[in-house]
Amino acid sequence: MSGIVIIGAGQAGASLAAEARTLGYSGAITLIGEEPVAPYQRPPLSKGYLLDKIDRDGLSLRAPFFWKDHDINLTLGRRVTAIDRATSTVRAGGEIFHYEHLAIATGSSARQLPEVLGGSLNGVYTIRSVADVDAMAAEFRPERKLLIVGGGYIGLEAAAVGAKLGLKVTLIETAPRILQRVAAAETSSFFRELHSANGVVIRESIGLDRLVGEDRVSGALLSDGSELAVDFVIVGIGVMPRTRLAEDAGLVIENGIWTDALGRTSGQNIWAAGECASFPFEGRQIRLESVGHGIAHGEQVARNILGASQAYGATPWFWSDQYDVKLQIAGLNDGHDRIVERAGDQRSRSIWYFRGDRLLAVDAINDARAYMTGKRILESRQTISPEYVADASIDVKSLLSRAVKLSQAA
Ligand code: NAI
Repeated sequence: MSGIVIIGAGQAGASLAAEARTLGYSGAITLIGEEPVAPYQRPPLSKGYLLDKIDRDGLSLRAPFFWKDHDINLTLGRRVTAIDRATSTVRAGGEIFHYEHLAIATGSSARQLPEVLGGSLNGVYTIRSVADVDAMAAEFRPERKLLIVGGGYIGLEAAAVGAKLGLKVTLIETAPRILQRVAAAETSSFFRELHSANGVVIRESIGLDRLVGEDRVSGALLSDGSELAVDFVIVGIGVMPRTRLAEDAGLVIENGIWTDALGRTSGQNIWAAGECASFPFEGRQIRLESVGHGIAHGEQVARNILGASQAYGATPWFWSDQYDVKLQIAGLNDGHDRIVERAGDQRSRSIWYFRGDRLLAVDAINDARAYMTGKRILESRQTISPEYVADASIDVKSLLSRAVKLSQAA
């Protein structure tokens, strides 16, 4: 069997397979995943699934018969160990798969705490797969002491779940503020206050010297010399793109697996999509960590495998749910030199990032209208005057009619 072979059955790989078939590709499509579970959504893992509000079926990306009905050869529980470019094959266990087009969609893996810091003690977890969350579920009991290492999305969402379930949660963050990688200081402050109001202790500019315990973790030594008793630990210190297979196959690696605007790697008929891949964006090679990107990139690469020849240019978007607050982000704020905060009602606000007069990104807190407006301006390659944004007497939606094409802006 030849056709399209996809390594990785996460959001990007699954979207790529489905899109190729939907567009009428008539060759074989083989989707190989190492987890023994059909493609599922990861975002609820640190939210509804951890809270037990969503079950395994609820996580599924597609109805059980979708793959068979679309003649997609879903091969689960199988890890690809090598790509042989000379013979256009990949090896998975004892099996060899021939490809006409190969798509690498291996995603990212959670950064682990090193063993010397106590990372391999029992009771220390990361959140990336459904198996990770199943393994920690029994730990979430009221009054237990949970230490969270890392104040990014994973750490904060897990902290919100812990607080809701009555645990005593402490979160440490090495950077001067939580969410530093993705959001402005104003957004960090909002979430710091929200967590404090829910009883979570957030300690910024504090690192972990090491975890202590015999077999199981019982405490943590922190960089300010203090010691904390803990019952279990969740480590949310970022992810690493999974590039090993591509590297071993001699493909160019640059901030992930290098791809051009179409999603082609440096290897003939080899493509890459989603979090494992970097792609050109405004003169640099970037990598995005978000489910929205996984879907859009996977679908675009499918179209390009089928000959569309369209550059990938989706506007990045992200979201996070913590307690009853929804944070939605459109665009990338890198390189901003101005921030405008726009008041919403009591519980909502939005933060708009500019470089000169150009709108780069919007963080919207409980403000779906601001998010949609900002996203639409960015998608249409327009900008909006910061003065209009700051003026709360102007209805947020009417900002759309005041937007101007980027070339018209200064
Ligand atoms: P992250 O990169 O967003 O945050 C990691 C945080 O850990 C950073 O603030 C960093 O300064 C801190 N850190 C690093 N080493 C540390 C240490 N030794 N001690 C204390 N703090 C340390 O990554 P995170 O939160 O682990 O999320 C993993 C991935 O999952 C990301 O790609 C994220 O975008 C994605 N994700 C997205 C969600 C969403 O869109 N809602 C929800 C959950 C995860």
